[in-house]
Amino acid sequence: MPGLAEPHELLESEFFDQVHSFDFWLQAVEGYLLDTTYGRDEELVDEPMDDAQQEALITTLCNYCIGETAALEASSGMIGYAPSRPIKIFLATQVVDEARHLEVFLHRLRELGVADPDREILQRANPALLKFKDQLLEYVDSRDWEAAVFAQNVILESLEFTVFRAHAERADPITQQVLVGVIKDERRHMGFGENDLGRRLALTPHLRPRLQKIKHQLDMLVMETFAGTLRETGVPEEEQKHFTSNYLAAVSRLGVDL
Ligand SMILES: [Fe+2]
Ligand SMILES: [Fe+2]
Repeated sequence: MPGLAEPHELLESEFFDQVHSFDFWLQAVEGYLLDTTYGRDEELVDEPMDDAQQEALITTLCNYCIGETAALEASSGMIGYAPSRPIKIFLATQVVDEARHLEVFLHRLRELGVADPDREILQRANPALLKFKDQLLEYVDSRDWEAAVFAQNVILESLEFTVFRAHAERADPITQQVLVGVIKDERRHMGFGENDLGRRLALTPHLRPRLQKIKHQLDMLVMETFAGTLRETGVPEEEQKHFTSNYLAAVSRLGVDL
């Protein structure tokens, strides 16, 4: 399948050409979205779920919608001051990905009987995730490229990637199919962030303390979001540490952990 299956296994030049190409993106998403409707096999029917499972799934999906809306708003806002044309092209593909993610999660909510997803999202929002979204959009609105790309493409993407993977392992078959497609996209978005900031850090070492400061500011919100979401998706407490360490590993690859 064309596209970025494993960004970390690609040569730097291959990675750069592929991730900054609309054409490559289109071929990649066509590969895994072909014959799907709202990101999954239309024929699939829901397995019976008890009330508690359904409630937990609705809360989880509501919070996924907040994360996806944050990424949609942030990635579109960043196009205006992205440092190069290839980066603007990458961000255009991310905007479309995030809109699709939001749509498939909203569709899944309606399928689970949620008549008014906007109202439900408001009621079930994790306060830490809402604060994270506000902080991210502040970086974006202040046209601070490094802070925005770090908060979105490293921190938010790593958080989503980790939570979606943990959830996909134990989700019902429909939610699992939807998540598998979304995870492929989040991996690409994360790869972009690590690559972009990795190159900037190599050229401007004084960027590191700035990113460390941002990480400090966001860490508590990220950990609170992790705890709430992993609990709702049924990940046992002892396994939660494993997932948070995956998130920390993504950040430490850039050398900005403390
Ligand atoms: Fe997304
Ligand atoms: Fe993303």
